[in-house]
Amino acid sequence: MKIVTIVGARPQFIKAAPVSQALRRQHHEILIHTGQHYDRAMSDLFFDELSIPRPDYELGIGSGPHGWQTGQMLQRIEEALQAEKPAWVLVYGDTNSTLAGALAAVKLHIPVAHVEAGLRSFNRTMPEEHNRILTDHCADLLFCPTQTAVNLLAAEGVTRGVHLVGDVMVDALQTHGALAARHATLAGRLGLRPQGFALATIHRPYNTDDPARLTAILDALAGLQTPVVFPLHPRTRAALTHNGLALPANVIAMEPIGYLDMLALEQAAALILTDSGGVQKEAYCFAVPCVTLRPETEWVETVEAGWNRLAWGDAAQVIEAAQRPWPTTPPAPLFGDGHAAERIVRLLAAADPAPQKVVAS
Ligand code: UD1
Ligand code: UDP
Repeated sequence: MKIVTIVGARPQFIKAAPVSQALRRQHHEILIHTGQHYDRAMSDLFFDELSIPRPDYELGIGSGPHGWQTGQMLQRIEEALQAEKPAWVLVYGDTNSTLAGALAAVKLHIPVAHVEAGLRSFNRTMPEEHNRILTDHCADLLFCPTQTAVNLLAAEGVTRGVHLVGDVMVDALQTHGALAARHATLAGRLGLRPQGFALATIHRPYNTDDPARLTAILDALAGLQTPVVFPLHPRTRAALTHNGLALPANVIAMEPIGYLDMLALEQAAALILTDSGGVQKEAYCFAVPCVTLRPETEWVETVEAGWNRLAWGDAAQVIEAAQRPWPTTPPAPLFGDGHAAERIVRLLAAADPAPQKVVAS
């Protein structure tokens, strides 16, 4: 069976890695990279570290306004799908690359499988919320990481093709986490003791593009009075420069880091502060307390379990959230058993559609 996988942004390389490996044991995978992320530290590094095969199509779309970026992707993905005529198109998460891939496929009557289906923030100002809702509502197979996601889809009337498979990020983390812990060269090079630092990442436009918000976050990091390792997403670096904001003295800023360095730092950190979806889950899996710098999260189970706290106010609120006592008992597994990728491949094969009906010209 031929499957076209569409990726474009950093978290999608990580999510696709275990599925791609499982798929290629029995099936023919064609990989399309939209080029939404393109810096080496945001893209090629992950292909190298996670042994992801080189893409068959590198569309090189790059950065731009949402409509332009999504439209360019839609056009170029359509051309590739018309040439490949796959049985399935596989998309991941909630980025513009996800939506463009799903739309291109359904307009050619090619069935769509969505990995990480059913996530909702209920915040319609987030571009991801539209991307994931639209993708879920045109997908034929919906692979959910949690029961919450299954329930949210049911509440929207989406039940056909929905499967609880677990989270493919846990598959990736289980494969690479121990290796990463042994590879803890970055913390060593920085002279950091295990548990002697915090780790922070931010990239959501509502945190980076509002100077008052960004200043409040920097004030919070300063107030933690511990070293804070801060790999800077390009959007965040640009916002700091644009607004002339200086980093506090205790913040160790750097370019985005590779997956192994990131997993190693997460495991050694005393605290994680983030607005990333993936990093919240990784913090939970490694039993590291997490303060999420957002008004809401899609990963509500981590908050209910007490290992994740939302802090969207001023610096004092963030510091209070970080310093209140954290649970002492290990968190229960919430995101599957590390075999989500195998389940996805089995379900895809079982649902193997009849030869494609139409490929419009
Ligand atoms: C995108 C996703 C977001 C995901 C995040 C993961 C959308 C709408 N957003 O956000 O859901 O959580 O990726 O990291 O799809 N840039 C570079 N080099 C790169 C990539 C980006 O310099 O390799 C800069 C550009 O100035 C660009 C900005 O970062 O305009 C934002 O990139 P973009 O892909 O549009 O959105 P992200 O914030 O990365
Ligand atoms: N990550 C990484 N290096 C970094 C920052 C993040 O390898 O400098 C990894 C992180 O461990 C997680 C994923 O990237 O696996 C999360 O991606 P990101 O925060 O960009 O997007 P989101 O999950 O919010 O969509």
